[in-house]
Amino acid sequence: MNTIRTGLVGITGYAGMELARLLAGHPAMRLALACSRAGAGKTLGEFYPFLSSLAGAEVVISVFTPEEAAATCDIVFLATPAGAAMGMAPPLLAAGCKVVDFSADFRLRDAQTYESWYSLAHSATDLLEQAVYGIPELYADDIARARLIANPGCYPTSAILGLYAAIKHDLILPDDIVIDAKSGATGAGRKPVPPMLFCEVADTFRAYSAPRHRHTPEIEQEISRIAGREVRLSFTPHLVPMNRGMLCTIYAKLKNPHTSFERVHEAFCDAWRNHPWVRVLPEGALPETRYVRGSMFCDIAPVLDARTGRLIIFSVIDNLCRGASGQALANANLMCGLPLNAGLAQSPFA
Ligand SMILES: NC(=O)c1ccc[n+]([C@@H]2O[C@H](COP(=O)([O-])OP(=O)(O)OC[C@H]3O[C@@H](n4cnc5c(N)ncnc54)[C@H](OP(=O)(O)O)[C@@H]3O)[C@@H](O)[C@H]2O)c1
Repeated sequence: MNTIRTGLVGITGYAGMELARLLAGHPAMRLALACSRAGAGKTLGEFYPFLSSLAGAEVVISVFTPEEAAATCDIVFLATPAGAAMGMAPPLLAAGCKVVDFSADFRLRDAQTYESWYSLAHSATDLLEQAVYGIPELYADDIARARLIANPGCYPTSAILGLYAAIKHDLILPDDIVIDAKSGATGAGRKPVPPMLFCEVADTFRAYSAPRHRHTPEIEQEISRIAGREVRLSFTPHLVPMNRGMLCTIYAKLKNPHTSFERVHEAFCDAWRNHPWVRVLPEGALPETRYVRGSMFCDIAPVLDARTGRLIIFSVIDNLCRGASGQALANANLMCGLPLNAGLAQSPFA
């Protein structure tokens, strides 16, 4: 395998940290550039002691410039907050780099929807059409051809994978979907803000951003695409006092209330048969965040509530690996012609 020179902007954030961990064990990618403003001047090994003596530890963190990134990298990961990538991606793409963006800047097809949910004016609308939404199980061919990936949000990843089989196999009414989601605190990023301090997060449990969390239009866009019609749904996230992990409980009305559990389970198994990262659990088993921690697995359990005519779907991922950096790396593998699971074959650290 040729070595692929890799850049990572946002190295000091949680998603950047997770990607640095994964890249340290990647067989074909080498971290050539790591960027942050606050961490500039330190080596990665100094900033992240867990990386000491591992690949990438010697890289000195620098402030991002498109010129340096274009000169030193074949592919650049932008693990930065919404609004940053729309300025960084255009010069990188123009210089021939591939780009994987972690933020929402290129996820929403419609710039007005982005502007109304993110309260930011979009400055690179011409790139929206070429950006490919990066769920490798669903769009591998497009991802392999892409130069710009819109890496999905963590909640959307869990919700879309959870709902995919039920919609594809026409099992549920797409108009009455409720997604009740819970995330660990790393989902909010590393910036030190009062609501995320230890004493505000530990030993309590709260919903937030109801009813307008920014991931709502992204989930609706992608579920509409799968359903082949416009879908509106309810989505409410909650913060759980744990570091990482995410669980979506999804409620939907069955199209045919007499559908059997066997039919549902078969449809889910059928949809994911060739995609080993999505594990459909056997009847009676329910997923837990600890069993997917630090991995690409999405564990899914459909449960039939015959009394109410509802299908309840539990979908669990690790928000930092599957929900961000692992998925970004899987997309980058496809873009670079590498095996999908290069650097990603490790077991969950339960
Ligand atoms: N955390 C998750 O579970 C998760 C899951 C899915 C997707 N994401 C997405 O991944 C991205 C990063 O999330 P995170 O949780 O890692 O955030 P974070 O912990 O807050 O880190 C953000 C990183 O971006 C850098 N940064 C901030 N503003 C910047 C700017 N204007 N220009 C350049 N660099 C900037 C920061 O370093 P400096 O300020 O020092 O430059 C820091 O390294 C976000 O778009 C987020 O929505 C996160």
